[in-house]
Amino acid sequence: MTVAKIGIIGGSGLYQMEALTDIEERQVETPFGKPSDALIIGTLEGTRVAFLARHGRGHTLMPSELPFRANIYAMKSLGVEYLISASAVGSLKAEAKPLDMVIPDQFIDRTRSRVSTFFGNGIVAHISFGDPVCQQLAGVLADAIENLDLPEVTLHRGGTYVCMEGPAFSTKAESHLYRSWGATVIGMTNLPEAKLAREAEMAYATMAMVTDYDCWHPDHDSVSVEMVIGNLQKNAVNAQRVIQSVVQRLSQHPPESDAHSALKYAIITPLDKAP
Ligand code: ADE
Repeated sequence: MTVAKIGIIGGSGLYQMEALTDIEERQVETPFGKPSDALIIGTLEGTRVAFLARHGRGHTLMPSELPFRANIYAMKSLGVEYLISASAVGSLKAEAKPLDMVIPDQFIDRTRSRVSTFFGNGIVAHISFGDPVCQQLAGVLADAIENLDLPEVTLHRGGTYVCMEGPAFSTKAESHLYRSWGATVIGMTNLPEAKLAREAEMAYATMAMVTDYDCWHPDHDSVSVEMVIGNLQKNAVNAQRVIQSVVQRLSQHPPESDAHSALKYAIITPLDKAP
């Protein structure tokens, strides 16, 4: 039974959705263990949605400790078809200034110890990931942001998100390297989510909220947690308004998404050879 078609994963600073009504808190068990926290199911703009605090509501989980598979599996088990990630990121480009919003369309993987597949153990699949973000969902997200005309926020449609392992932030040499690659923003969580969401045939897109200039910018201090949280708290009100508007748009006009049939030609193991 579908509980919610729209899921939201909130990152650093976004631990709850204030506008939710008729809330039900669900502890979901999965074959991959427990998700980061209980899933909060509630009504937003007349639609049931599922919210998950990525690092737990008390922010107790580091990026490398996140139960990515359990999180995505839990969302899928509730019937989620559209998964929106709200995430704090550092900026690698001068024009993407703190408090701006970026809707990335590409990722670079710099993680080292993450399991980012549901396959293996006898079943081999290779999903297409050339376009790692659902462009239809990203479009809805970007249109919603543009339409809200948020003060002090410039929207950047498209851009490359570098996903690093952490937990320490980058060195200056690394930050300059990522800039030389043309990357736009840097964070620690979104790539495994995007891969697993694709394998689970869910449309996935990220609202990346810039909190800092990482450590490359000569006129700005190197990123610190204080900076990240301070700016994200300023953005939390905006983030909630954006999500509300996206939910309204998605429930009125749910877009077609290639992600919804991502496994169609992805599984190589013949059915009669699978364990
Ligand atoms: N999240 C927010 N700012 C970041 C940065 N500069 N690097 C990695 N993750 C971040």
